[in-house]
Amino acid sequence: MSGKLVVFNHPLIHHKLALIRDEKTGTKDFRETVAEIGMLMAYEVTRNLPTRRVSVKTPVGMAATYMLAKEVVIVPILRAGLGMVDSITTLIPTAKVGHIGVYRDEKTLEPHEYYAKLPSIVTEAVVLIVDPMLATGGSVKHAIDILKNKGVTDISYVGLVGAPEGVRKIQKFHPDVNIFLAALDEKLNEYGFIVPGLGDCGDRLFGTK
Ligand code: PRP
Repeated sequence: MSGKLVVFNHPLIHHKLALIRDEKTGTKDFRETVAEIGMLMAYEVTRNLPTRRVSVKTPVGMAATYMLAKEVVIVPILRAGLGMVDSITTLIPTAKVGHIGVYRDEKTLEPHEYYAKLPSIVTEAVVLIVDPMLATGGSVKHAIDILKNKGVTDISYVGLVGAPEGVRKIQKFHPDVNIFLAALDEKLNEYGFIVPGLGDCGDRLFGTK
C-alpha cells in the first residue's frame, strides 16, 4: 500500500500555527497551542480508522452501528512528541502509548536512539508516530525502522512542520507510511533547522533555552 502526504489546510490550524511560529510566544501558550493543533489533526488523521459493525441496545430499540476495529498506539518521539500526546489521547482515550527516545546529533544531524518502550499489542495496532518537527527526517525514519523491525505494518506519521528534505527521506525509505503535516516549509538551513519553521520545538515546549 502506498502512503499519502497530507498537508492540512484549515483556518484553525493556520491560526494556531501562526501563534507557535511567533518567536514572542512563551512556554505556556506554546505548549497549549501545540496540544490544540495535535487534537485538530488527530480528528482528520483518524478519519480512515477501520471500524466493525456492532449492535447496541438503546433505550428505544436496537441500533446497528460501528466501533473501532483495531487498537490505536500513539508513539511520541521524545522529547518534543510528548507535546502532542495528551490531546490525541483525549480524543482516543483507549489508545496505548509507546515511547521512542531519539536525539539528533547537533553536528552530524544523525539520530541517536536512547529509549524505546512499546506496548505488546503494537504489531496489530494502527500506529501514529508523533513528532512536531520533520527536518532531515532521520528521527522519524529511525522510529519507523524500529516499529517495522517489530512487525508493525500500519504506520502514519503526524507532525506540525516539515521540510521537503524530511518528506523525501520518508517517502524514499518508507513509501507505505502516511505523512500528515500542519505545514510544509521551504527548506533546511545549514544547521539543519527548518526555515522558517518555529525554532527548536523541544526547547520551546519545555522551556530549556
Ligand atoms: C528535534 C525534533 C525532531 C528532530 C527532527 O528533536 O523534535 O525529533 O529534531 O530532526 P530530524 O528530522 O533531522 O531528525 P531533538 O533532536 O532536538 O530532540 P528533543 O526533541 O529532545 O529536543
